[in-house]
Amino acid sequence: CGIVGYIGDKNAYPILINGLKMLEYRGYDSSGIALLGDEQRVYKCQGKIANLEELVSDKDTSGKIGIGHTRWATHGEPTDQNAHPHTSMNGHFTLVHNGIIENYSRLRDDLIELGYTFQSQTDTEVLVNLIEYVYLNSEEKSAEIAVRAALKKVVGAYGIVIVCNEEPNKLIAARKGSPLVIGIGNDEYFLASDATPIVGYTNQVLYLNDHDVAIIERGSLTLKNINNDPLVAKIKQVDLSIGELQKNGYDHFMLKEIFEQPNTIEQSFKGRIKTDNSDIVLGGLHNVMPKLMDARRLIIIGCGTSWHAGLVGEYLFEEYCRIPVEVEYASEFRYRNPIIDEDDVVIAISQSGETADTLAAVKLAKERGATVLGICNVVGSSIPRETDGGVYIHAGVEIGVASTKAFTAQVTILTMMAALLGKERGKLSLEDYRVIIQELSEVPEKIKTILKTTDHIRKVADKYKDAVNALYLGRGALFPVALEGALKLKEVSYLHAEGYAAAEMKHGPIALVDDNLPVVVVAAKDRYYEKVVSNIQEVKARKGNIIAVVSEGDTQLDKMCDDIFEIPRSHPAVAPLLTIIPLQLFAYYVAILRGTDVDQPRNLAKSVTVE
Ligand code: G6P
Repeated sequence: CGIVGYIGDKNAYPILINGLKMLEYRGYDSSGIALLGDEQRVYKCQGKIANLEELVSDKDTSGKIGIGHTRWATHGEPTDQNAHPHTSMNGHFTLVHNGIIENYSRLRDDLIELGYTFQSQTDTEVLVNLIEYVYLNSEEKSAEIAVRAALKKVVGAYGIVIVCNEEPNKLIAARKGSPLVIGIGNDEYFLASDATPIVGYTNQVLYLNDHDVAIIERGSLTLKNINNDPLVAKIKQVDLSIGELQKNGYDHFMLKEIFEQPNTIEQSFKGRIKTDNSDIVLGGLHNVMPKLMDARRLIIIGCGTSWHAGLVGEYLFEEYCRIPVEVEYASEFRYRNPIIDEDDVVIAISQSGETADTLAAVKLAKERGATVLGICNVVGSSIPRETDGGVYIHAGVEIGVASTKAFTAQVTILTMMAALLGKERGKLSLEDYRVIIQELSEVPEKIKTILKTTDHIRKVADKYKDAVNALYLGRGALFPVALEGALKLKEVSYLHAEGYAAAEMKHGPIALVDDNLPVVVVAAKDRYYEKVVSNIQEVKARKGNIIAVVSEGDTQLDKMCDDIFEIPRSHPAVAPLLTIIPLQLFAYYVAILRGTDVDQPRNLAKSVTVE
């Protein structure tokens, strides 16, 4: 979910609504705002922000203080009633919330016994009523005291912004687990789940830490922790331009971000690869290099596309560093009492730096004594702030819900890390090390060549757009590319697609093969090539349609396959970065031709801050 808030001398409504649009990637099931002027007005409804704008088009939107929310449903369907903000039963408090209150059911029963009734199925309404109950039953009627006292009874995660009718010139914000940023203007403050809605107004921001509570009035901000100890606000400068947040002539953010990849990959290695391609310098690993040199095992954790990048990393680290690697879904890792010790280095991969499961897994690994590194995109987000070191991928803001440029930037960083560590640990010769650096430096130009073939990819997409299922196959480091290609198609086109290790196909998925099934095979020239060709023959023998990603000039597969996507020849170390590009474009065009909402596919959210 995404939350926004404003207090100052401007009209809050346009600031809130524009902020919500920028946070819509965090969820778009329903949205709402509360405005405070002479009286408090709450408007909320099911669906995207556009529905909310329509709802309020003939309403009073005055007020210089307000809060807003865009929701990704957890508790209760995305109905008008379950939309935020939620107001307490007696109308004293109104709240927007991101996160999950885990003990909400017990708290709800207690409140029902105390006479509370509920309008929604949400955990948020429980929280706002709890705050009100504490407020009404305290000797000193103070919103801040009630918020702090109520939050102590809460188990779970929250980022909240709350207003109290009796203290109308004040916003109270608190964080545990779910991110919250405060933008500091001239006698005005902006609140949001991330900095993007704020940068158009100010670049001075304060990131709340867990257990922080901020009390914000027009000209003052007081920061304390939940126990009422005063804290010093550490104000930071954000470096983000508004241009990054626009489509710049592309039809969709997804397409824009696919096309940005020559540039974003270069940003990932710029300044980190010496200009003569002789060496790699990763400043964020400097302090942890001794640990990496001695590490007995690497554990890579992530979710979704970031997990796929981790799987590519596994092949690279094992190949070039000869270190055993385990790659795990963060959600599985954190709950299965993992065996971790001080010789393990954990690498958490996350575009947003906020994914709840990944963040919790990072905290667990730290508690168990492992050294934890982050590979993240959003500067200042929670994961990089928790880790012992790491590398930012510098892909720029990614807005399309289906991740594209973040994946290739993550893989770029993993390739650099694997090469550097392989050389340092004496497992990769200096000559091979430099070949990998040289190959990496050529990737942006090679991607530009692939991007020139979009017309062809669109034609192939048109041919297969009415398929029901699709199978994606690959081997070695191109197996995770097959998984990622299938995920892209699934996310944006709603077609069922499955990624499989090419040889494993004969142990099950081959039963699906008939003349209606498109089978996408990632078949760049590498040491598995001949094996992949055999797998293609197995599919052909059963009349499956083969779409293959092949290296330029591959005449063998050209004849054998129904359709081919060519990529420039490259070293296997960088093949994942090239082979994924046509698969991203294929998914995009299938989705466009099927008429889905590519940038905001149904049911998904870009940043999943609940577990
Ligand atoms: C969501 C997004 C995916 C993303 C995953 C992990 O599911 O829709 O695109 O890969 O979260 O996000 P992270 O920010 O941790 O990389």
